[in-house]
Amino acid sequence: MTKRAYFTTPIYYVNGSPHIGHAYTSVLVDMLSRYHKLLGYETWFLTGTDEHGDKVMRSAEKQGMTTTAFVDQISGEFRALLPQLHIANDDFIRTTEERHKKVVRQVMQNLYDKGEIYSAQYGGRYCFGCERFYTDKELVDGKCPDHDTEPEWIEETNYYFRMSNYQDWLISHIKGHPDFIRPEKFRNKALSFLEAEPLKDLSISRPASRLSWGIPLPFDEKHVTYVWFDALLNYCSALGYPDGELFQNFWPEAQHITAKDILIPHGIYWPCMLKAAGIPLYNHLNVHGYWQVDAAKMSKSRGTVINPLDLVQKYGVDAFRYYLAREMRLGNDADFSEVALVNCINSELNDDLGNFVKRITGMVAKYCDGIVPAPNGPAPDQELLDGLERKIMDALQRCAQEIDLHPVVESLIEVVRSMNKYITDQAPWTKYKNGDTATVNGLMYASARMIGLLAQALQPVMPEKSLEMLALIGIPERPVEIDPDLVKPGGKVNSERALFQKYEAPALEDAEPAAEVRPEITPFRDEIEFDDFMKLDLRTATVKTAERVPKSDKLLRMDMDDGTPEGRQIVAGIAKHYTPEEMVGRQVVIVANLKPRKLMGLLSQGMVLCAHGEGGAIRLLTPEAVVMNGGSVS
Ligand code: MSP
Repeated sequence: MTKRAYFTTPIYYVNGSPHIGHAYTSVLVDMLSRYHKLLGYETWFLTGTDEHGDKVMRSAEKQGMTTTAFVDQISGEFRALLPQLHIANDDFIRTTEERHKKVVRQVMQNLYDKGEIYSAQYGGRYCFGCERFYTDKELVDGKCPDHDTEPEWIEETNYYFRMSNYQDWLISHIKGHPDFIRPEKFRNKALSFLEAEPLKDLSISRPASRLSWGIPLPFDEKHVTYVWFDALLNYCSALGYPDGELFQNFWPEAQHITAKDILIPHGIYWPCMLKAAGIPLYNHLNVHGYWQVDAAKMSKSRGTVINPLDLVQKYGVDAFRYYLAREMRLGNDADFSEVALVNCINSELNDDLGNFVKRITGMVAKYCDGIVPAPNGPAPDQELLDGLERKIMDALQRCAQEIDLHPVVESLIEVVRSMNKYITDQAPWTKYKNGDTATVNGLMYASARMIGLLAQALQPVMPEKSLEMLALIGIPERPVEIDPDLVKPGGKVNSERALFQKYEAPALEDAEPAAEVRPEITPFRDEIEFDDFMKLDLRTATVKTAERVPKSDKLLRMDMDDGTPEGRQIVAGIAKHYTPEEMVGRQVVIVANLKPRKLMGLLSQGMVLCAHGEGGAIRLLTPEAVVMNGGSVS
């Protein structure tokens, strides 16, 4: 049976140019779609622009442009960004296109005929400067904060969608389908929104006299619809709803990907609209966190809006994509820093991956006349190699089930590190010197095979680099679906080219030197002997699971991978600083030989090291790049 998947990004507003946040969602969806293809899925990937509404009209006016010329320009910028980020979308929809407007009108008429849409008077305080209603809370001394004028009370007819009818149904649907909205914390948010108070009906229109930049209602031309009722339907209109072949094939497999800002429209309005219109629901809503800068929202005034193209120009598209996948865990916010980006490229892409490929191609050139040799049977420690292959295949499968790419990329880079260690342990150079050609051939073949598999598995993240990697071991093309046996003896390697390069860390902005006010620090403790220090057994460990300790606001209970098969449990007083979700997957430093003790009845087998900042802030100590668990720290 054909496996299919349909992925969507939000359609972006066209009132400003794209930034790293927009780039991230589109790159993430591209990677997901490519991973699914690699696993044999037929996929469809939609993105586009949301072009109606008064904000857009006002932005156009500010630029002295007609609305049409303005939306064409900005939508064009979003579209042009895609190939520059190596994004291979199948379609790009604009809400100003006729194919979309037609579907919006059709669905509206259908809902109106069924009595799901009704008109009612609405009264509110309206600022003509802002062209919008204000709630009393938003006003300052009864005046619009932007125009310092008193808004006028106006009454008008609006159309409403009877969303309130669907509250109970949606609660039970979300409860009955635990992964309808994921990850769990956003599912819980949507549920608490629904359970908090009665759901209100949704206002879906504005009088055309006040807002002309929308889609006229089919049953009342004096009103237009815009924003959510218009925008959400793009996911169906682009597939040719209701009869299009694409709609028949792909809609049942729909997965939306958005950031947390638009959880409510996607998790609540949209399912209610679908249900009312008799359209089957989407499969999953996958919600990611926000990219921030210096732990705050990007802001034009602070100059912290990151332009993805600047980074692409400096560091290359694929390295940028890798960083995006590596840095953000689905559901959590991530802090963008160019220093972290450079570190990631230097250590993981250049030192680990690039170095592995360069070592192997160099050795094949030297020991095997530049040709991938035929093995003479299994390589030394073949079980380890088989295990690494399984790890790659498992990571890919997990990606299809869980959507989070961070652990996938992490597993792949761990395989690279294990291969580097394997080669160092096996020391082919000594075997070559001793004339053990059979073992050298076995090692070179196995390593080339692993490069081939890694290149394929990294293809969704780094499409161009993956092709380069394959070319370096003499493979001119990559298969559509993953093929572990892609590498055959006989390929001619290229040992000259390096896959990545190292970069200087960018200089931090020259800040005005402020008068230095140093916080008081706690007094230093008495000196100790070196032997005393050596009594401490500090190790690296990765948090596997984490949860709050009931009845404690300070403690988290964590299962850690400390390099031993059984692992250990640590209870740490960090719950005010880190959520369980933020801890899972983190590598930290632990005191491994602290006598176990019980905290709130739970055994804690060690301590997690943290740095203590001002005002009681604490930050975890983490190796600068991931290393093996259980490694000693000194
Ligand atoms: N037009 C609506 C969406 C309609 S979908 C039927 C909209 N547009 S938007 O331009 O504001 O895009 C919001 C989306 O852009 C987020 O959900 C996310 O995908 C992306 N991002 C914008 N800023 C972001 C960050 N700072 N971080 C991560 N993603 C962000 O809402």
